[in-house]
Amino acid sequence: MITKFLNSCWRGLQPRNIIKICAIVVGGLFLFSYATISLKGDSHSKTDKTRPASTRYEKRTPSRDGIGKIYMGREISQVMGHLAAGWLERPEREREEMPNKLIEMLKLKEGDVVADIGVGTGYIARRISLKIGDTGTIYGVEIQQEMLDILAKKMAEEGITNIKGVLGTITDPKLPPNSVDLALMVDVYHEFSHPYEMMQNICRALKVGGRVAFVEYRLEDDSVPIKRLHKMSELQVIKEATPHPLSWIETLDGLPWQHVIIFEKVATE
Ligand SMILES: C[S@@+](CC[C@H](N)C(=O)[O-])C[C@H]1O[C@@H](n2cnc3c(N)ncnc32)[C@H](O)[C@@H]1O
Repeated sequence: MITKFLNSCWRGLQPRNIIKICAIVVGGLFLFSYATISLKGDSHSKTDKTRPASTRYEKRTPSRDGIGKIYMGREISQVMGHLAAGWLERPEREREEMPNKLIEMLKLKEGDVVADIGVGTGYIARRISLKIGDTGTIYGVEIQQEMLDILAKKMAEEGITNIKGVLGTITDPKLPPNSVDLALMVDVYHEFSHPYEMMQNICRALKVGGRVAFVEYRLEDDSVPIKRLHKMSELQVIKEATPHPLSWIETLDGLPWQHVIIFEKVATE
């Protein structure tokens, strides 16, 4: 009986049948490996720690002043290039923004460590310099070396020694951890291309109890003659700050065009 069975198998293994069997085996192997790879990829993407970051920002066609990247419903604005540095030093800025009044509102003291993120030409940092004195430090953080060069030139002209220029990146201000009493952002935050990552790293650099001040043109006020994407509402700032270990302290409205929205770093485990 066994011989009969083997004979029938052998008779069945004609060249045409062998090709069919081979095709079935190869096809099966292909389907098996495809399914295994797909499933692995799926389970990997679900546990991938970078997945939330990759879905954090949306893309759309850029508007005139924007970069086409949307964060929490807001289009991020283009960065102000160093060729426009003269605008930061315009004489009428005293009247439009009252920088000395802003500095009084920030309640700084001698010896404080301030990070002026997006320092530009140092228009604000140079005015803070006197307030914190020789025992204080200002980290003037920039992503454009040309701005840091202008800052260094102006510091030399004015005999200022307590500002340290820091070349950061679009995601990281490159500051020492737990070192900063106040992180100040004057007309800057709305142009961070990576606001979430920047805030994460700014929080890392803050001491617990240290403060962050967002100084932004008021979106709520139509009479402020500034482009739409260069303005931010108080609510939007709070929405974007509070995923971080920051607690809202106060919003100060004493300036002509800007509001000053202040948060404090809270301890995390
Ligand atoms: C409109 S200017 C304001 C400068 C300064 N704060 C002032 O009020 O005079 C914005 C500056 O922020 C800088 N900037 C943009 N994104 C930055 C980032 N991620 N880190 C540091 N600086 C940044 C730009 O290079 C630009 O010089």
